[in-house]
Amino acid sequence: MQVNLRSPWRIGPVEVPTRVALAPMAGVSVQAFRRQGRRYGAGLVCSEMVSCAGLSRGNERTLGYLRIAGDEHPLAVQIFGSEPTAMRVAARMAESAGADLVDINFGCPVRKVTKTGAGATLLDDPDRACRIVDAVARAVSVPVSVKMRRGLENGSRSALTVGPRLVDAGAATLTLHPRSAKQMYTGTADHSLTAELVDLVDVPVVASGDITSRARAQAVLATTRAAAVMVGRAAQGNPWAISEIVGGGNGQPTREEIVAELVLFIRETVRELGEQRATGFLKKFYGWYLGRGRFPKPFKQELVQLPTVVEVERRLFAAAPGARDILARLEEEFPAGDEVLLDLPISVYGGG
Ligand SMILES: Cc1cc2nc3c(=O)[nH]c(=O)nc-3n(C[C@H](O)[C@H](O)[C@H](O)COP(=O)(O)O)c2cc1C
Repeated sequence: MQVNLRSPWRIGPVEVPTRVALAPMAGVSVQAFRRQGRRYGAGLVCSEMVSCAGLSRGNERTLGYLRIAGDEHPLAVQIFGSEPTAMRVAARMAESAGADLVDINFGCPVRKVTKTGAGATLLDDPDRACRIVDAVARAVSVPVSVKMRRGLENGSRSALTVGPRLVDAGAATLTLHPRSAKQMYTGTADHSLTAELVDLVDVPVVASGDITSRARAQAVLATTRAAAVMVGRAAQGNPWAISEIVGGGNGQPTREEIVAELVLFIRETVRELGEQRATGFLKKFYGWYLGRGRFPKPFKQELVQLPTVVEVERRLFAAAPGARDILARLEEEFPAGDEVLLDLPISVYGGG
C-alpha cells in the first residue's frame, strides 16, 4: 500500500503537514538547515539536542539554541538531561521560546552525555525515564515527544518495554531509531522493531534510520505502519532528498541549484553563528553539498582551504555563475528573519 507522504497527521493539537520529519542532528541542525528542510517539504523540524543543565543555568550559548524563526513551525526543541526538575525547567523555556513540541532525547549514545545519566542510558533506567517524561508533560501545554534508540546493547529490545511506559507517563509521540547505542551509526536500522512498537502504543510513531529515498520511505511506512519517517544523514547538504521522498522531485539538482542553496546556507549560518564560528562550522557542509559526484573532489578541497566565507562564495559563483539568479529569487521569496547575531555554540555532542 502506498502512503501519501503529503498527507497531514497530528500530534495532539499540532498538525504536521507531511509524513517526513527532519532529524535532529547535533552540529548540523542550525536554523538554516531547519528552514531549508521546511522549504523542501519536511513537515516537522527539530532543534539539535539542548542541554537542560545549560538552559537552567542560563548559559548564554545554550540559550541561543532556542532562537526559532517564524517559518520553522511546526518545530520541536529537543532537550536532554537526567534530572526531572531540571528537565521541567528546560521544557518550560523551550515552550516559551515558541516550540510546538518538546522532544526528550533518550537516544544519544555519546559517552560525554551517557556518563551523566542522560541520553540512551535512560533506556536502562525506565523509572527515571518515566519520571522525566511525567515532569515535562505536566510542565508544558505543548505535546511532549520522545526520541529513543532500541536500547543500549546490540539486539536490545528495551524500546519495546520502555516505550509504552513513556506513553503512559505522557509522551504524545515516540520516534524510534532502531539501532543500539553501542552500534552508534554502524549496521542497519532494524525497522521490524519499529513495527512492533507501533503495535504496542496508541500514539503516532516516527521511524528514524536509513531513510534515504522515496522507495525506502514507502517501504518502511508500509511495513511498520508508522505515522511518518524521519530523515537525517540523507538530508545533509542534500535538501533534494527531502523533496524526492515527499514526492516532489527527482533528487537531482543542477550545479546552479546546488551552489545557490549552499551560498544561501552559508549566508544564513553566518548570520546565526557569526562569521568566525561559521567559517569552521561550514567546512563539513562543503563536502556534503559538492560530493555525491556533483563536483570534482579537488574543488571541495580548494573551498575548505579558503580562509573566509566571502572567498568561498566567490569561488562557488565562479564555478556556477547561473546560481546568482536562483539565489536572488530564493532570498526574495524566503527573506532572512531578524538580523540579530547570536553567539551560538557549535555542539560537541554526537546525537542519538
Ligand atoms: C551528526 C549527527 C548528529 C545527531 N544528533 C542527534 C541529536 O542531537 N539528537 C537526536 O535525537 N538524534 C541525533 N542524531 C540521530 C539522528 O536524529 C537519526 O536518528 C539518525 O542519524 C538515524 O537516521 P539517518 O539514518 O536518517 O541519519 C544525530 C545523528 C547524526 C548523524
